[in-house]
Amino acid sequence: MALIAPSLLSADFLHLSRDIQMINNSEADWFHLDVMDGRFVPNISFGLPVIAAIKREAKKTLDVHLMIEEPGKYAQDFKNAGADILSVHLEACPHLHRNLQQIKGLGMKAGIAINPHTPVHLLFDVLHDTDVVCMMSVNPGFGGQKFIQQTIEKIVVLKKEIARRGVSTLIEIDGGVTFENAKEIVEAGADVLVAGNTVFSTANPATAISNLKSISK
Ligand code: DX5
Ligand code: ZN
Repeated sequence: MALIAPSLLSADFLHLSRDIQMINNSEADWFHLDVMDGRFVPNISFGLPVIAAIKREAKKTLDVHLMIEEPGKYAQDFKNAGADILSVHLEACPHLHRNLQQIKGLGMKAGIAINPHTPVHLLFDVLHDTDVVCMMSVNPGFGGQKFIQQTIEKIVVLKKEIARRGVSTLIEIDGGVTFENAKEIVEAGADVLVAGNTVFSTANPATAISNLKSISK
């Protein structure tokens, strides 16, 4: 059974409180929060004060996905804002091992996000220090994009390596997850499904979450 992490990027920011309550009362497992700086990705989303506000109402794990340059500069700030899991992009971190140690040292779970074009073996040597791999299945920056099918092969390769090394790293798939492809993604080895558009473009987001949950059994 996969964990479901609705992405608030597709929520109604005017009614954020309502959407947080909906997630609190749903079968969702985590809140997925997408932070974009307009540098690492060609879009700007929200940052520290918004996450701190979400923390006051959210009753589930805050999974913060940093699509920013020099994420190490802000790790302490995201801890203070309430992040439980902090993922940094491999492509933004020339000293990734140091970033992972820093995040764990601050008491958060450490995640690595990787872009669709990045070979997954680049993170094998730090897998033992990684709690979550946030594998991008779209180009980061926007919600509502189409799932890149090549991701399935990357999941299979990563799952095998996680088993070979005997580590407990979770594989999180981020981007383009739908009712149609969720099963295939979980069968390939995903442990966590992020879903923005699939949850928030429906009339009943809580039902969408519960449908995703039962599809990914
Ligand atoms: C994209 C973000 C995703 C996004 C997923 O840059 O990292 O988390 O919100 O949205 P959907 O599920 O709509 O592809
Ligand atoms: Zn994300």
